[in-house]
Amino acid sequence: MDFLEIAKKRYSCRNYTDNKIEKEKLDLILEAGRIAPTGSNVQPFKALVIQNNEGLDKLKKSMNTFNAPCAIVLCANPDKAWTRSYDGKKITDIDASIVLTHMMLEATNQGLDNVWVCNFRPDILRTEFNVPSEYEITSVLLIGYGVSEPLSPQRHDKTRKKTEDLFIFETF
Ligand SMILES: Cc1cc2nc3c(=O)[nH]c(=O)nc-3n(C[C@H](O)[C@H](O)[C@H](O)COP(=O)(O)O)c2cc1C
Repeated sequence: MDFLEIAKKRYSCRNYTDNKIEKEKLDLILEAGRIAPTGSNVQPFKALVIQNNEGLDKLKKSMNTFNAPCAIVLCANPDKAWTRSYDGKKITDIDASIVLTHMMLEATNQGLDNVWVCNFRPDILRTEFNVPSEYEITSVLLIGYGVSEPLSPQRHDKTRKKTEDLFIFETF
């Protein structure tokens, strides 16, 4: 599938069937995350894959899982992430986001519905899954098969700002 076709097909799915995702598809999603670029190629992350009922029940204590059968909790280590010397900015979240974006779009490419979630209780997630203190929990990707019809790939004309409102050429 053409890249823009996949990008337009992806939508945030907030209601999943009980159907598990196939191992071959999960493997391809993880491979997409593995090969993602990170600043200075440091790869300062661990991604926790949750699929069994015990794990999904623990996850539900910290967030709405929308009944998704698979969750990938992205954790990143700010002490390992590249830091810009000029102002000390650590790019932890940027690294974590490109990894999650790769996985999200590969999930769509595999015909799986998904949603990116930041609205979770990090303290509960940390305790329930023994996340080491050096890792920040940055995002969660929920993956599965949606109950309802997917949103239209043509929706962006209405749901996104216009090109001229977002992109500026040469200077502000
Ligand atoms: C960084 C990020 C965080 C998000 N966090 C949440 C969230 O916590 N809960 C949720 O339901 N959706 C979340 N979303 C989904 C967005 O609300 C959604 O992508 C946006 O409204 C556009 O809709 P679409 O994905 O269907 O095109 C998040 C998306 C991104 C990129």
